[in-house]
Amino acid sequence: MIKLFSILLFSGAALTINAQNDWENPAVLGINKLPYHATLQLPSKQKECKEIVSLDGQWYFHWSKDPESRPVGFEQKNYDVSQWDKITVPGNWQTQGFGKPIYVNMQYPFHRDRPSVTGEPNKDWYAYDHRNPVGSYVTYIPVTKDMLSKNLILHFGGVHSAMYVWVNGKKVGYSQNSMSPAEFDVTPYVNVGLNKLAVEVYRWSDGSYLECQDMWRLSGIFRSVQLWVRPLVHIADYKVEAVPNEDYSQAQVTADIAICNMGKKKVKDVSVFFKTYEHGSDRSQRVVPDGYYACAPEILPGDTVQVKITYRIFHPRLWSAEKPNLYPFSIELKDEHFDNHFGVKRVECVGEVFKINGKNVKLRGVNRHDHHPVTGRYVDDATYEQDITLMKQANINFLRTSHYPDREYLYELCDRYGIYVMDEANQESHGYGYANHEMGEDPEWERAHVDRAVSLVQRDKNHPSIIFWSLGNEGGVGPNLKAMREAIVALDTIALPFCDTDRSQSDIYDDGYLTPERLASEAKKISDRPFMMREYAHAMGNSMGNFQEYWDVIYNDSSICGAAIWDWVDQGILKKENGVEYFAYGGDFGDQPNDGAFCINGLIAPDRIPHPHYYEVQHVYQPLQFIRESNGSIRIINHDCFTDPSEYDITYDTITINGECLLNVEARLKEDKLWAKKGFAVASEQFVLTPYTFPQTADLKQQTSNIAIDGNTLTSWIVDGKEMLQAPLEPYFWKPENDNQHAAGFARRTAVWKNATDVTVNYTIINERSIQVEVDYHPTGTDKPVMPKFGMRMRLPADYTYIDYYGRGPWENYPDRKRSAFLGRYQMPLSAYETEYIHPQDNSCRTDVRWFDITNGQRTLHINGCQPLCIRAWDYGEEDLEVAKHPHEIQRGRFVNLNIDLNVHGVGGVDTWGARTLPQYTIDGNKPYHYAFIMEWK
Ligand code: GAL
Ligand code: MG
Repeated sequence: MIKLFSILLFSGAALTINAQNDWENPAVLGINKLPYHATLQLPSKQKECKEIVSLDGQWYFHWSKDPESRPVGFEQKNYDVSQWDKITVPGNWQTQGFGKPIYVNMQYPFHRDRPSVTGEPNKDWYAYDHRNPVGSYVTYIPVTKDMLSKNLILHFGGVHSAMYVWVNGKKVGYSQNSMSPAEFDVTPYVNVGLNKLAVEVYRWSDGSYLECQDMWRLSGIFRSVQLWVRPLVHIADYKVEAVPNEDYSQAQVTADIAICNMGKKKVKDVSVFFKTYEHGSDRSQRVVPDGYYACAPEILPGDTVQVKITYRIFHPRLWSAEKPNLYPFSIELKDEHFDNHFGVKRVECVGEVFKINGKNVKLRGVNRHDHHPVTGRYVDDATYEQDITLMKQANINFLRTSHYPDREYLYELCDRYGIYVMDEANQESHGYGYANHEMGEDPEWERAHVDRAVSLVQRDKNHPSIIFWSLGNEGGVGPNLKAMREAIVALDTIALPFCDTDRSQSDIYDDGYLTPERLASEAKKISDRPFMMREYAHAMGNSMGNFQEYWDVIYNDSSICGAAIWDWVDQGILKKENGVEYFAYGGDFGDQPNDGAFCINGLIAPDRIPHPHYYEVQHVYQPLQFIRESNGSIRIINHDCFTDPSEYDITYDTITINGECLLNVEARLKEDKLWAKKGFAVASEQFVLTPYTFPQTADLKQQTSNIAIDGNTLTSWIVDGKEMLQAPLEPYFWKPENDNQHAAGFARRTAVWKNATDVTVNYTIINERSIQVEVDYHPTGTDKPVMPKFGMRMRLPADYTYIDYYGRGPWENYPDRKRSAFLGRYQMPLSAYETEYIHPQDNSCRTDVRWFDITNGQRTLHINGCQPLCIRAWDYGEEDLEVAKHPHEIQRGRFVNLNIDLNVHGVGGVDTWGARTLPQYTIDGNKPYHYAFIMEWK
C-alpha cells in the first residue's frame, strides 16, 4: 500500500526513497493526534461524568489477513457494512475468534527488519500467510444539535498496534503507541444524527518493534472508546503536586492547570476554582468545601494558557502504601468540573538508601501483566479490584506494571488501597536482544522512544501511588534511553526514573533473578544508589522455593530497597475444545512461533484463584515477624514504617493435637479495610510448645497369610477378602519434574534414580491389618546425582479419595516452601489435595506429616510416621503426569498413587532457565538415609 500522503511528505528529501507506509515508518507516530494529558476525571467517576459518551459495545467488524485484502474505502458513507461480523469493543480480535493469538517471549512474531513488518518470515510462521492482519471497524456516533456547539474529542484508551480513524468518510488521523490513549478532535467532521466512525487497525506496525514484551501478542481496540463532549473553553490538562517540607510539618500544593479555548472568539477572565475538601489535621473536621481561585485574564482562540494555584497544608497526612491518605479535590470551570485526589509524599535516594517519607521502606513487589483469560488485554474493573485486593491480602506493597501502562482505573485503586507503583513505559525491543544498541542508539527511533515516555508520564502524573517511572523493559541502551529519561524528569520530579537495560539512566541500580546469596554479594558492591531486583522469584508452575531466604538478605541490607516477583497472574487463555475448557498457552492455537507454557508464571491462576505459592508470598511478605524468646515471650519485629504493631489485634491460640502443643500467633485488622474485613490476619506465626512424640519402631514379627512380601516389595495385602494394593509398595526415588527443574535439566541429571538401588526395606508384620516399614539407603558409590526423593510408592484402589492428615497445610508445601503452611489437622478430598497446574507437573506434597489417613468411606488406610513424612497423593501416576500437556489430558481415576517419603527435592525459586534448587533443599545421593512408618487398615 502506498499512501499519497507519505509520498508528499518525503518528496522533498529524495524521490528515490521508497514511499513508506505510516505503519512502517518510525518518523510517523501519529497524525492529528492531540497532545497526551492527565486522566482528567477519576476513572471511578467517569460513568457519572456528563461530558463522556461511551462508544463501547458491538461494532461492525471485518478481519483481513493482510493489508492487500483489506476492504479499501469502507470508511465511506455509502460502503455497506451491515453484513459484517460484530465485535465487542473493548476487546481483542483473537479472543473473539478473528486470527490467532501468538505467545512469544523475546522474539518478534513477524520478520525482523525494522521498520518493515511485512517481510517474508519462516514458512511455518503464522505471519507468513498473515503478513499483517487488518481489522476494519465501524460504529456510529450519535450527535445532537446541542453537541455541535461543543468541542468533540474522540478518545481511544488503547489500540493494538496502529490505526487510522475516519469520521463520515473523512480521514481524521492516525496513531500508534498502543498502550496509551489516542485522542482526535472530531468537531469539524460531525453532523447532527448518526456519524460513521471507521477505524482500521493494523496488527503490526513499526511501533511493534518497541512492543516486544513477553506476552500474548493480541490486537484490536482493547480499551474503551469515548466521545468527550467538552465546552469550547475547557481544561486541557492539569498537574497537582504536593511536596512536603523537610520535617513534613507542611506541604506545598501546586496545581498547574492548562485551559484551552477551542472557540472562535477570544475569552476573558476565565476563572478556575480548585475545590478542596480538607486542609489537614488542623481543619480536618471541615466537610464544607473550600478552595482557591485562579484566573486566566484572556485566552485567544486556539490558545492554551496555564494558571497556577499554590497553597500550603499544615500537618499533612502523608500518603504511603500503609496509610494511603488522599486529599480529594475538584477543578471547576464555568461549564465543567473534574474530580480527583492528590497525596503528599516524598520519594528519594539518600546515598544508597531508598526512602519514602523519610523512611527506609522495603518494596515487597510483584510484576503484573494486564491479562484476562477471556477478554485478553482488556481487564474489567471487577478483576482489577480483585487483583489489588488479593495483592493487599498477600502483603504486597509494590506493583510494577510490566511492561506498559495499564488502564487508568488500576492506578486509582493503588492510590486508594495503598500500593507503590512502578509505572512502566511501553518500550521493549527485546527482539534485538537485551540492552541492544540497534534500538537504543538509532536516531531514527529516538522520537518513538520518547513518545512512549511522554505518554506514560502525561497520563499518570497525578497518581500519588507512582514512585518510579520505568523507561521500559528489556530494550536498548544509549541515547534513546537517555532522551526518555530527560523527557520524564522534565515532566515530573516526584517519582524517580528507573531503567533496567541502561543503568546510566536509572536512579536505582537494578539486577534480576539473582540467588539470595548473589543478591547479598552484588548489593554489597554497589554503593552509589539503592539496589533492587525488578524481577526475581520466577513463579512459573510449582515454584517460589527459598523465598524467605531472599527476604532475610533484603531485611539485612538497608541499601536493598526491594524486589518484585515475576509475576502476578498466569497468562492462560480460556479455550473450549470438544466440550472441554482449559487454559491455553503458547502453541495451543497453532501459533508459530511460540514459547509454550512460559507465560504461565503467576502467583494466581488466570481465573484469579491463588496457587499454593501465593500463600508463601503472603507469609514472607508479612509486615510483622514474630520471634519466640528463650523465656517464652514473643518479640515482634515490625518491617513496616508507618504502622505500629499496636494497630493490630494480636491473638494467641494454643492448640493441642495428639499431645503436640502448638501456639498460633496472629496480627489481625482491628477494623475493615477496603481489601479485607476486620479480623483478617495480616501476619501469623506458629510455634511448637510441646513437640510431637513419634511412635517407636516395634520389633515383633508375625506371620500372616494375607500379606505377601517379595524382597523389598510388598506385593499383596488382602484386607477383608479384598486386595488393597493396585500396585505394590516399593522403594521409589523418582519424582516428575516441575517447570523449574525441567529448565535445569533435572530429569536428565537424575535419571539413574528411576531405579532405586542400594536400598533395603524391612517389613515387620504387626498383625493382619498393620505393617511397619523401615527403609535404609546405603550408598555404595560417591558420584550419585541428587536424589529426587527418598521414600516409597504404592497404589490403592481408585475410590480412596478422601484425606485426613496431621502435618503442614492446608495448601501444598515442599521442603523449601513451607513457612506459610502451619501444622494442623486437615481434611479434604483428594482433588483438593492435588494441585492442578496449567502445565501439569509434580504437585501435592505435604511436609512434616505426622499421620495420614486416606479412606473410601468404609475402610481407611492410616499411615503413621516414625519421623515427619512428605506425602504426595494423586488419582493418576507419574507416567500420566509426565506426558500430559494440559490437566484435562491426564488419565485419571484408575488408582490412587501414594508417595510416602522421608524427603523430597525442593521446588526451587530462582528462575526457570537453569537455576537449581538451593543445595540445602536437595537430597545428597551419596549419603545414607533411614526412615520408617507404620501402615494400618481401619
Ligand atoms: C524477564 C522479562 C519478563 C519475562 C521473564 C520471564 O526477564 O522481563 O518479561 O520474560 O523474564 O518469564
Ligand atoms: Mg522480554
